[in-house]
Amino acid sequence: MSVDYDQAPLAGRVILVTGAHGGLGTAASKACARAGATVVLMGRRVRQLERLHDAIAAVSKAPVLYPLDMEGASPDDYNELAQRIDDNYGRLDGLLHCAADFRGLTPIEHTDPAAFARSVHIGVTAPTWLTQACLPVLRKSKDASVVFVVDDLTRVSGAYWGGYGVAQHARVGLVSTLHAELGKTSVRVAGLQPGPMRTGLRAKAFVDDMDRDARDPAFAADACVELLSPAGAEYRGEIAQGASGSLE
Ligand SMILES: NC(=O)c1ccc[n+]([C@@H]2O[C@H](COP(=O)([O-])OP(=O)(O)OC[C@H]3O[C@@H](n4cnc5c(N)ncnc54)[C@H](OP(=O)(O)O)[C@@H]3O)[C@@H](O)[C@H]2O)c1
Repeated sequence: MSVDYDQAPLAGRVILVTGAHGGLGTAASKACARAGATVVLMGRRVRQLERLHDAIAAVSKAPVLYPLDMEGASPDDYNELAQRIDDNYGRLDGLLHCAADFRGLTPIEHTDPAAFARSVHIGVTAPTWLTQACLPVLRKSKDASVVFVVDDLTRVSGAYWGGYGVAQHARVGLVSTLHAELGKTSVRVAGLQPGPMRTGLRAKAFVDDMDRDARDPAFAADACVELLSPAGAEYRGEIAQGASGSLE
């Protein structure tokens, strides 16, 4: 079936997705492309990015690859990425933060200090640097949306969630701070708590066969599209809960 891109919710938009070859990143990138966006796929594994590129290009507008390891990337690397987006498109309409580092449930007492720092860095510092770098090019859009995917704070406040869990609290704080600073400008920010999804990340904490609550990340992809589209303005500054296009 051919897509009428002018009628699609993300028609003409340029959307940058981090963690693009992850579980939700893959589903959301495909959904954004189906919704008419040009998607910039950011991730650290080139082969997986290429596979995702080909899968999207076969049915939707071809995406663009941007391989980058956020663990070692500097603010200058993010500035370069933002500049390239500006040079190529003249604006950025959406930034979807899906990258996350979680290596399994471990008591703080036994956590490798470097692993703790890495999870916090990928969860908070790196996405903050990326957002900072992208703000000037996001301001070139009439309606830009920055979305941080966050986990259930009640769950990750429990034992053993380590740096990943701590970072989730900080991400919610970041949504609040950015919202207070950006106010009702053309750049809005929101969080999305998608609920449990069957992904590589989830499999590191739960045994697959017994994990009945988790759903396919495709169920949350429409919620990402909604928050990145003009309809997402309703959730400005909020942590939206939801999946399958039914945001609360
Ligand atoms: N799964 C759930 O139940 C659930 C529930 C609530 C919220 N979330 C949130 O949903 C988002 C997506 O998670 P997911 O479940 O889809 O997990 P996932 O499949 O593990 O995806 C996470 C992505 O982040 C990437 N990443 C990790 N370290 C990176 C680095 N140094 N540089 C660049 N990319 C890096 C991973 O790349 P590699 O594949 O190379 O490691 C992967 O592509 C996360 O923000 C997570 O907190 C998930």
